[in-house]
Amino acid sequence: MPISQKISAKLKSSSWIRKMFEEGLQMKKKYGVDNVFDLSLGNPVVEPPKEVRQAIKLAANDSSQGLHRYMPNAGLHDVREAIAQSLSLEAACKELVADHIVMVCGAAGGLNITLKTLLDPDEEVIVFSPFFVEYLFYSENHGGKTITVPTNEDFSLNFNALREALSPKTKAVIINSPNNPTGIVYSRKMLEELASILKKYSTDNNNPIYLISDDPYKKIVFDGVETPNILELYDNSIYITSHSKDLAIPGERIGYVAVHPKCADAENLMSGLIFCNRVLGFVNAPALIQRAIQNVQNVSVDAELYRKKRDFLYAELIRIGYSVVKPQGAFYFFPKSPLKDEVLFIQKLAEKKVLVVPGQGFGSPGYFRISYCLPDQVLEGSIAGFEEAFNEVKL
Ligand SMILES: Cc1ncc(COP(=O)(O)O)c(C=O)c1O
Repeated sequence: MPISQKISAKLKSSSWIRKMFEEGLQMKKKYGVDNVFDLSLGNPVVEPPKEVRQAIKLAANDSSQGLHRYMPNAGLHDVREAIAQSLSLEAACKELVADHIVMVCGAAGGLNITLKTLLDPDEEVIVFSPFFVEYLFYSENHGGKTITVPTNEDFSLNFNALREALSPKTKAVIINSPNNPTGIVYSRKMLEELASILKKYSTDNNNPIYLISDDPYKKIVFDGVETPNILELYDNSIYITSHSKDLAIPGERIGYVAVHPKCADAENLMSGLIFCNRVLGFVNAPALIQRAIQNVQNVSVDAELYRKKRDFLYAELIRIGYSVVKPQGAFYFFPKSPLKDEVLFIQKLAEKKVLVVPGQGFGSPGYFRISYCLPDQVLEGSIAGFEEAFNEVKL
C-alpha cells in the first residue's frame, strides 16, 4: 500500500463533516444548488467587518522594506504586544505581555503546537463530549491519548465524571466555550469549579494539569451572556483563539496562543510553542494578516446577525417538536435525534435534501449538529425538510 496504513484507516473513518460536505456537493449537482439545504459546515456566512477589510488593504499597501520576510517563529513583536495589551485587560491578568503570546495559523495551529509541546507518549488529554472532533486527531498527532468525559443533559460540565477521569497520566484538559457543537457557554461559576477541581488534583498529586481553553467563538455570544477568560481563573492555563469566527476570516489562518504568566514551566512552555511552530512546518503565522489584525483587536462581526438566525431556527425546531438546548453562542444547534440511531435520521433528512452532521462525529451518538452560519433562505428552506422528517419518524 503506497500511503501509511494509519492514514489510510483515518481517511475511511475521519470526518462526518467532510462526508456530509461531499454528499452535499453531489446532491447540489443533481438537484441544483437552491434545492439542497446544507447545514453541515461551520463556514461563516457573514463577510469580515469593514474595519478588517480596510486593515488588510492598509497592510498590503505598506511598502516599507522587509515586511514580507521570515520573522521570529513567535510572530511579529508589535502584533504580540497589541494582543497582550488588550488580552491583559480582558482577562484581568496584568503580568501578561508579548512574551506570553505566539501567533499561529488559526486555533487549529495553536492546538497542535500546544499539544506537541506538552505531550509525552500516552499522556492523557481530557475532552468533554460532545467535542470538536479534531481534538482526537490533534492529540493523536502528538502521541497523546484522548479521554472522553460526558457532559450533563444540558451540556454543562459533569464534574463527577471529570473527577473519575483524572489520572496520574492526565496532562491537559481541553474546554471550548462557546461550544462547537452545542453552542453552550460555560458560566463563571462553572469555570471556577472546574479550576478548583484541577487545582486540587494538581496539588494533591504533584502533577500540574494544564487547562487549554480553545475559544474561537468567544465574541459570538447572545443575550449579554458573559464569557470569562480562563486566564482570569486558573494559573495553569493556555488560551487559544483565532479570528476565523469573530472576524470571519477562517481562510486567512490567523490566531494566537496565550500562556498564563504563572503557568507551570512557563518559560519552557513558551520556548516549546515557538519551536513547535517551526518544526511542525508553520514556521510563523502569515505576515500580512498578522499586521492587519494588529489594530482591529476590538472589532468583531455583529453577533446580532447570528442571534436572529438562532432565534428563527430555535422557534421552528421547538414548534416541530425537536428537543434542543437553546445555544447562547457560536452558530450551532445540537438537537436530540428523534430516532435512537441518528445516522438513520440524518439519512431521512438527506432524503428531504437537508444535510446535518450525526452526533457520533462529535462523540455523542443520538444527537445531530446543525450549523446556522448560513443565508436566511437556506435556513428557511430547510424547515419543511426538518418537519417532514420529524413527522415521518414519529408516526
Ligand atoms: C471548537 C473549534 N476549535 C478550533 C477550530 C479551528 O479554528 P481555526 O479556523 O481557527 O483553526 C474550530 C473550527 O471550526 C472549532 O470549531
